[in-house]
Amino acid sequence: MKKIDVAIVGASGFTGLELIKIIINHPNFRLKYVANSEGGMSLSELYPALKSVVDIDIKKGDAKEIAKCANLAFLALPHKSAMGFAKELLDLGVKVVDLSADYRLELETYERYYCTHQDKEHLSRAVYGLPEFFRDDIKRAKLVANPGCYPTATLLGLLPFCKYIDESYPIFIDAKSGVSGAGKKCSDKTHFVFIDENVSAYNPLSHRHEPEIKEKMKIISKGVEYDINFVPHLLPLIRGEMCDIYCKLKEDIDPLEYLKEFYKDEKFIRVFDKPVTIKGVGGTNFCDIFAKKSNSNLYICSTIDNILKGSSSAAVVNANIMSGFEEDLGIPTIAYVP
Ligand SMILES: NC(=O)c1ccc[n+]([C@@H]2O[C@H](COP(=O)([O-])OP(=O)(O)OC[C@H]3O[C@@H](n4cnc5c(N)ncnc54)[C@H](OP(=O)(O)O)[C@@H]3O)[C@@H](O)[C@H]2O)c1
Repeated sequence: MKKIDVAIVGASGFTGLELIKIIINHPNFRLKYVANSEGGMSLSELYPALKSVVDIDIKKGDAKEIAKCANLAFLALPHKSAMGFAKELLDLGVKVVDLSADYRLELETYERYYCTHQDKEHLSRAVYGLPEFFRDDIKRAKLVANPGCYPTATLLGLLPFCKYIDESYPIFIDAKSGVSGAGKKCSDKTHFVFIDENVSAYNPLSHRHEPEIKEKMKIISKGVEYDINFVPHLLPLIRGEMCDIYCKLKEDIDPLEYLKEFYKDEKFIRVFDKPVTIKGVGGTNFCDIFAKKSNSNLYICSTIDNILKGSSSAAVVNANIMSGFEEDLGIPTIAYVP
């Protein structure tokens, strides 16, 4: 099998590093180009942990240079910067998996919650990269918008239940994340002294992942407008996310048996008979899910590694699907335990 040459833009960020780790061990992808905003050093200078493992010069990101050496690019960039690169790369014939929010939402939603969109043409053709629900579209896509980390964990827990959820009641999502979810730049709220031995909510009921969850729930349920209430928290952890979801059922079902049947063919979803943990998925592309009901009240709990299933390994799964490879080729599955 001929290898596919790939580029990673945003290689000096948290998700960029996870992409590098997966791609250098991938049997069918070859890492040809890595970039950040300035370039000018090698990967092992930036990450001493990569010394003697991989060495390649980090470039200042340039779409034309990428098009000369790669067929597919991963964009691990902040929103807004990503669409600038994606537009040029796609016009030059390079397939793109974008980890940012730039191509995840409908235009009106994006502009309300982020900024003016600069690539409406490609936005209209972008595919939402949640393979468990949009696999066939991903196979044909030239541009895949990787879902947000919280939406990944939430949607994988909630979407199977769409037809059983009573939409006249609100849905509450109590989400928790490790600090890597905020990216490498430190702030008062991600400073060790604030985070350590602490738990705090941020952007309660106004986080930008709420409209993403709402929009995809509407698509899968064919038009239902759910009342989504999303509250994220920061945990004193490096990686991992847990979403505790509470909603109302309109039919009497066994949620666990239903989930097991729903996901029986999915390689990266594991349904458990007991509450799931963040540690159980750390370092993997798995989403672990548990569900239980009390009368008509449904509780769903799902966990992912935010910088893998919530971004980088999910991005490589999408690239596998776009390239006609087995979905699990080169994808990490063994959790960092103990
Ligand atoms: N962290 C997560 O858990 C997570 C999960 C899902 C999705 N995402 C999304 O994935 C994207 C990357 O997140 P992250 O956490 O990896 O961010 P990060 O740690 O802040 O890294 C951002 C990267 O983008 C690079 N960059 C910024 N502007 C650039 C430009 N104009 N040209 C080339 N490179 C540029 C930075 O390079 P410099 O080092 O030179 O500044 C850095 O390598 C974001 O859109 C984020 O929302 C993140």
